[in-house]
Amino acid sequence: MINKKTTSQVNPKLVRLKSGIVKKGYLPIMKRIKYFRKLLEYIRKANIGLIAIIFYIATLGLVLKSMNLLQDFNKNLLQITGITLCIFIFLFITLFYLSRYNASILKHPRKFLIFCLINFCTLLLAHGILNINISQYSIPATLTGMLLASFVGGREALACLIILGGLLGFISNFSIDIVFTFIIMGGLASLSMPFIRKRIDLFKIGLASGVLGTVFITTWGLLQGWDIKTIFTQSSFGMGGALVSAFLALEILPFLENIFGKLNYVKLMELSQLNHPLLVNLREKAPGTYQSCLMVANLAEAAAEKINANPLLAKIGAYYHDIGKIKNPPYFVENLSLNSKSKHEKINPALSSLILISHVKEGVQLAEKYRLPKEIRDIISQHHGTTFTSFFYQEALKKDSNGKVEEESFRYPGPKPQSKEAAIVMLADTVEAASRTLDDPSPARIKNMVENLTKEKLIGRQLEESQLNFHDLKEIEKSFIQSLTGTFHGRIKYPSSEQTDAKKEKNDGNGHPYTNEKRS
Ligand SMILES: [Fe+2]
Ligand SMILES: [Fe+2]
Repeated sequence: MINKKTTSQVNPKLVRLKSGIVKKGYLPIMKRIKYFRKLLEYIRKANIGLIAIIFYIATLGLVLKSMNLLQDFNKNLLQITGITLCIFIFLFITLFYLSRYNASILKHPRKFLIFCLINFCTLLLAHGILNINISQYSIPATLTGMLLASFVGGREALACLIILGGLLGFISNFSIDIVFTFIIMGGLASLSMPFIRKRIDLFKIGLASGVLGTVFITTWGLLQGWDIKTIFTQSSFGMGGALVSAFLALEILPFLENIFGKLNYVKLMELSQLNHPLLVNLREKAPGTYQSCLMVANLAEAAAEKINANPLLAKIGAYYHDIGKIKNPPYFVENLSLNSKSKHEKINPALSSLILISHVKEGVQLAEKYRLPKEIRDIISQHHGTTFTSFFYQEALKKDSNGKVEEESFRYPGPKPQSKEAAIVMLADTVEAASRTLDDPSPARIKNMVENLTKEKLIGRQLEESQLNFHDLKEIEKSFIQSLTGTFHGRIKYPSSEQTDAKKEKNDGNGHPYTNEKRS
């Protein structure tokens, strides 16, 4: 039986952190960071409003200091009031934009804190660079673009960079060339981030951003009548800043992941490659499961996009959700060839159920061994929630005339899905498993099947901790129906019957009870 607390007894984040430190030789620094993490725990409990106010005051102070307005406060009162209002408007626009396009960051103080820190540190660094004898084009706009995009997405990062450009205007004494270079270089980096596939792609983005910056600086230099040497020197600083940014992003992104428990975008992109050793292993040992995972990933990614959840996380979670089946592939129906008999016929139902249920625990163990991020491990542990292997329970009841069958040993240990992405993977997994047994996948039958299965999970109370609302569920259903109709296009017969195949696919031997979901 799987112990629900297995994954929480040893703090995997700490283990991951420690092993990472030892490998990189960062131990003394990270020891100090332990205290910093404690401090962050307190900050995490603070609300978004407080963080926004602190960010606002800090930014205002920095801007006023860089403009030397605080030295004669009374004389500069009108200007100070104007800047105070202007920064307030900037902050308001940023928060409004985020609430419209990336509301999740405003629900997580920790993420919002990182977001504010990235913005403030950029301004602080720009202030420092503008006050020392170094080219102003070396402000690491590329780094800011990359970091912001990894936290809020490319499009949102671009919007933030434009606002930051406005603040940079104050700090740089309204130097339009600095503002434009910053927005152009940072913008290219942020918009390119969604397309990275490997770590090396960060350098390609850095290079592209540097080239674009060089072109802009050269053009600006020619317009201003600079000599060739100055143009070359200033452009070199722009290019250098972009390349250093790429290198720093490579170091900072995993560092932030360790400190804040943030899902590392670069790491996710690496995991999305199908040549990851775990996926290669799954493909070789359990080809049926592997194919099913790819299908679940397609369904989950499309559905996550529809409800503004994280499509990349849903897709990768789906890739890895059944890796636990590597241990006993023949016991899962999708890995059986057409004429082979089910292995479960030779063993008792309780053992069958145990083998099915164990794939969740085995999956979490493999994920820990391969150091998959916590978010992926959570999806693995939650993808069956606390559902019931009703088919084997009924079989056990039939065989046990004394009626001493323990119901709980036929139930997945959970927890229930705790995030939208985990819930999407659970639903996509169930729908995919049932769709494999549809003989006549007409649009009406697909629709019926998807709606019945979703309803079943809802009635079984599997989705109650997942943050999904009714509207999300409807959108997910629509997305599944659309994806499956597309997949089965060649097999669809018209006109269709309204009857559902529900009863027929009551259980496919894969731990996905079609009906009879008990409340848990
Ligand atoms: Fe599974
Ligand atoms: Fe599955």
